[in-house]
Amino acid sequence: MSGPEPWWTDAVVYQVYPRSFADGNGDGVGDLAGLRQHLDHIADLGVDVIWLSPVYRSPQADNGYDISDYEDIDPLFGTIDEFDALLVEVHRRGMKLVMDLVVNHSSDQHPWFRAAKLSRACPKHDWYIWRDPVDGHEPNEWRAAFGGPAWSWDPGTGQYYLHMFTPQQPDLNWDNPDLRAAVYAMMNGWLDRGVDGFRMDVINHIAKDPASLSDGSAGYVMQPRIHDHLQEMHERVFAGRDALLTVGEMPGVTVADAALFTDPERRELDMVFQFEHVGLDHGPDTKFDNRPFDLPALKTSLARWQTGLAESGWNSLYLANHDQPRPVSRFGAAAVAAAAGFDADPFTLRYESATLLATVLHLHRGTPYVYQGDEIGMVNAGFERIEDYRDIESLNWFRGAVGRGTSIPDALDALAFRSRDNARTPIPWDDSAPAGGFSAVTPWIGMGQGWPSITVAADRAAGDRSVFDHHRRLIDLRHASRTVRLGEFELLEPDHPSLWAFTRTLVDESEPPLVVVANLSSSVVMLPAAIGSRLETLVLGNLGRPEVADELRPWEARVHEFGPA
Ligand code: GLC
Repeated sequence: MSGPEPWWTDAVVYQVYPRSFADGNGDGVGDLAGLRQHLDHIADLGVDVIWLSPVYRSPQADNGYDISDYEDIDPLFGTIDEFDALLVEVHRRGMKLVMDLVVNHSSDQHPWFRAAKLSRACPKHDWYIWRDPVDGHEPNEWRAAFGGPAWSWDPGTGQYYLHMFTPQQPDLNWDNPDLRAAVYAMMNGWLDRGVDGFRMDVINHIAKDPASLSDGSAGYVMQPRIHDHLQEMHERVFAGRDALLTVGEMPGVTVADAALFTDPERRELDMVFQFEHVGLDHGPDTKFDNRPFDLPALKTSLARWQTGLAESGWNSLYLANHDQPRPVSRFGAAAVAAAAGFDADPFTLRYESATLLATVLHLHRGTPYVYQGDEIGMVNAGFERIEDYRDIESLNWFRGAVGRGTSIPDALDALAFRSRDNARTPIPWDDSAPAGGFSAVTPWIGMGQGWPSITVAADRAAGDRSVFDHHRRLIDLRHASRTVRLGEFELLEPDHPSLWAFTRTLVDESEPPLVVVANLSSSVVMLPAAIGSRLETLVLGNLGRPEVADELRPWEARVHEFGPA
């Protein structure tokens, strides 16, 4: 990276999934009022940016990722005045607020889609993607991400419309210039209101190749026009505005694509969310085909991204979000035990696992994202009945899998590991009834197996075993250290089955290099001499000062200055 680095190279982002964060109005669903009451929790962590998952008007078929009015707040979450008040409070604490931007699709209840359905002659018709039937069927075999065909029949127009997610989420037609102009106007409206950028939902899906609509191939990701759209968006929305953050969610993006999307010269995006590392523990056909956690695969995958975006471009760093299982349950001691064939207690070495994973993530080069609840080491929900689940993807998959002959216990096991609801249980602020301070009433989804033992109050009072305090130290370190921000990354011992080790080195040698060593096993790991002999000052560790420097205790993670060879 040449020249002065952008502000977000030392920023840390905290993601709020509002319906599960805090309920301010006593209806069992989290909202803006609840978020506002708990802003100090986020500010205390030391993060720079809040990314707020959608709060726009929505029928909530996909928890707000189906938007029926891009310019207003859903009454479930509050009002536009409450939003403005929240924004003031966020800014007053020195943080920025980034909104979710969901413009691959809208809700089928959006006035645009209602108009589009009126007739083929209506100008809004072309704002969505329609095809005539082919031999009385869908125009191709594309499948929707949440099950079923990607096409739904509209009797009024006698056509099929495209939806890559649920039928309630029709895809917008980015080939239509009026649609694009309307989206840019809406984005400018939010930026004028004071928001600081966007996290762009499945943004690499917006360019579809009309020709390939007929051949059933994956003609909807990474079509060349995506770069035109993003460059135009940059010019029409972001150019001339300072200190924004733009991050594009991009399932299927490769390192080479990401280098293009995030090359500052190309004026597209600041960073992207890639999916490679969160796709390693499932089979190719469905994410519900769970595979055991494989550390060498995970660390070498992330290392490839580090190297691939070292010269130009930038990484976002995440292990979790509202679509992914909890990292402690997925990559922590319980997951490693399960991969070795043991029946694991979900709370095994939870503090150690949570802090180790955070250490490794935050010490990579890129912008780290902390998903709400991970800062206190929350675990998967532990739901055992289908009635406990709320997520449309999980419910659809379960119905389909059982219909295809999967046994109910097997389908429930798959959900228990993979369902998005694992990350959507309410933030347990304390151990009070009925919902741990999240709400005064029964919440929209169960509290999960972690509650009441895991709570914000308990974690923040846990002294040197507070996951929250460990995160705060990691964030402080990034703010203080140029090496953490910008140092070159080198993976050490790539094939070691339980050691995750890497160095960070500034080319100009203005600060000493750092080494990160982490033991993802329940046995002591002896560091190879080439690492152990070079450990100097301990910068940070999750288990305090070690007695023997070149041995790592189970689930110990340390950052040291790295001496000469
Ligand atoms: C993204 C969101 C996810 C949503 C989907 C459709 O992947 O993160 O929650 O269901 O897009 O909008």
